[in-house]
Amino acid sequence: MKEMIIYFSRSGENYVNGSIRNLSVGNTEVAAGMIHELTGAPMFRLEPEVPYAPDYNTCIEEAKSDQRRDARPELKKYPDTLDGVEKIYLGYPNYWGTMPMAVFTFLEKYDFSGKMIKPFCTHEGSGMGSSERDIRKLCPKARVEKGLPIHGADVNGAENLIKRWL
Ligand SMILES: Cc1cc2nc3c(=O)[nH]c(=O)nc-3n(C[C@H](O)[C@H](O)[C@H](O)COP(=O)(O)O)c2cc1C
Repeated sequence: MKEMIIYFSRSGENYVNGSIRNLSVGNTEVAAGMIHELTGAPMFRLEPEVPYAPDYNTCIEEAKSDQRRDARPELKKYPDTLDGVEKIYLGYPNYWGTMPMAVFTFLEKYDFSGKMIKPFCTHEGSGMGSSERDIRKLCPKARVEKGLPIHGADVNGAENLIKRWL
């Protein structure tokens, strides 16, 4: 089965177990890398044309504003095609209870008829939030499987969790 890992992740300052740390690789990217190791599926990173600030508090405000406006931030690049891809591992951090708005931009661009979406999300306590419902709304023709919430601070030890979910 043709598979692809498509994810959003932000390196820079982040909140980890109650304190601010500078992450050189974002948590969701770490999880995406583990899925890549286990499945061999190629990885594609969703990057907004205008990235969120590396400074945590600024990023929080930017992301909140995008969500309030129901924005669709433009992406730097898109996968050429999803033709023939049957299963998509869709990864993102929980931002304000759902996905970053750039993931909404991506999901609205393609026809997901007949494709399976397996969402995985890293978070600091809210789990998947409303993201699975939001994906179903944006991609009514996709089969959206039960998602995998991963505590961002524990992502380095998440391999077994991921293995079972796969
Ligand atoms: C803008 C922003 C909003 C966030 N909102 C939430 C939230 O509502 N619930 C939660 O559990 N974690 C929230 N977090 C924490 C992230 O989901 C968590 O740190 C995640 O692992 C970051 O993934 P990344 O390093 O791949 O970007 C938020 C983080 C940011 C930067």
